[in-house]
Amino acid sequence: MSTVVLVYSGGLDTSVCIPLMREEYGFDRVVTVTVDVGQPRDDIAQAEARAAALATEHYTVDARSEFVERYCWPAVKANGDYQGYPISTSIARPLISLKAVEVARRVGADAYAHGCTGKGNDQFRIEYVMRTLTPDIRIIAPMREGRLKPDGTREPWTRSEEIEYAAAHGLNVSQTRDRIWSIDENLWGRSIEGGRLEEPDYAPPEEIFQWTRSVADAPDDPCILTVGFENGVPVSLDGERLEALDLVLKVNALAGAHGVGRVDIMEDRMLGLKVRENYECPGAVVLLTAHRALEALVATQGELKFKASVDREWGELAYKGLWFDPLKDALEAFINRIQERVTGEVIVRLLKGSATVIGRRSAWALYNEDLASFDSKTFDQSESEGMVKLHGLQGRMYWMLKDRDRT
Ligand code: ARG
Repeated sequence: MSTVVLVYSGGLDTSVCIPLMREEYGFDRVVTVTVDVGQPRDDIAQAEARAAALATEHYTVDARSEFVERYCWPAVKANGDYQGYPISTSIARPLISLKAVEVARRVGADAYAHGCTGKGNDQFRIEYVMRTLTPDIRIIAPMREGRLKPDGTREPWTRSEEIEYAAAHGLNVSQTRDRIWSIDENLWGRSIEGGRLEEPDYAPPEEIFQWTRSVADAPDDPCILTVGFENGVPVSLDGERLEALDLVLKVNALAGAHGVGRVDIMEDRMLGLKVRENYECPGAVVLLTAHRALEALVATQGELKFKASVDREWGELAYKGLWFDPLKDALEAFINRIQERVTGEVIVRLLKGSATVIGRRSAWALYNEDLASFDSKTFDQSESEGMVKLHGLQGRMYWMLKDRDRT
């Protein structure tokens, strides 16, 4: 009895993989795993219904809280960003893969299968985790391998071939959602690509957005939101302590209603491809903006400068899905030490597409009213004079030498 564990979204590509695993790859049991990281309920329901019809056995794993606490929160602490957007797909992949590993161990799998193509980043992220934790289990990527033709060669599946193949195996794909766009969604963000959106100069149509109102439709009155942090992690909204998952869902709804969190960028994929990407990530934008503001209040200038480079490094590692890399662990040791003081409150104004910090407070604030205020008496301004005289000393010496040469 040979068993394959398929990472299953319920979409067309991964659904085609189920019969393919039996017919072409010769497995007796096809076990599907769908990991709930906050994608639409309909997607999960569709995956379950299709798995019931096609697979030997199916697991749906609700990993939403784990996703927030162990993946989104570390991203907040590291101000997790890649090329100007809050990373979301990339931080969910290791967890999805981890859950597939757990199922594979439980059912004694001989192989994994996933629906990633050969062009994207997800193949790297998903296989890395599988290979790290279970190096002896084979990994199959049917979409990357392509469709086997009668003459023995392979070529990429076309959409109509997939629909035909699925139909021949009793799968009705007529109600498959979101055909024009390729969408990946988890509770930290929504990514929309494909179709005409691939053209860098094609303006994104309003219909691609589900979580955010357009600026035009956003209310004229602002929402003033106070986000409480403890050790770098959001813990409350307007003074009310919330479970991590509830907090993210609530900020998503509030910020989305005010049109916050749309990002349209050119992204450099791991293979070097430049791709146009649209994201909507209202909660992530608000929480990252607030977190940065609190760090700016409590961390020293030197810490902030160094942390910016640590954060960028962390973001790149997370983007590549290298979740278990020792460098990531070392970067987090630094990040977490700083976070010990990132406790306090940040007041954010949500208005017409923007999230603006309008206040921050912390018991760790490196700010003293007495020192900074204009009418301070504790700050003896005459003490600055000597420092001012020496300011830029080396540069002034350079100019003296240069002028000497000229005369
Ligand atoms: N390019 C992004 C990433 O690699 C998002 C990919 C999401 N996929 C999609 N079909 N929209 O993290």
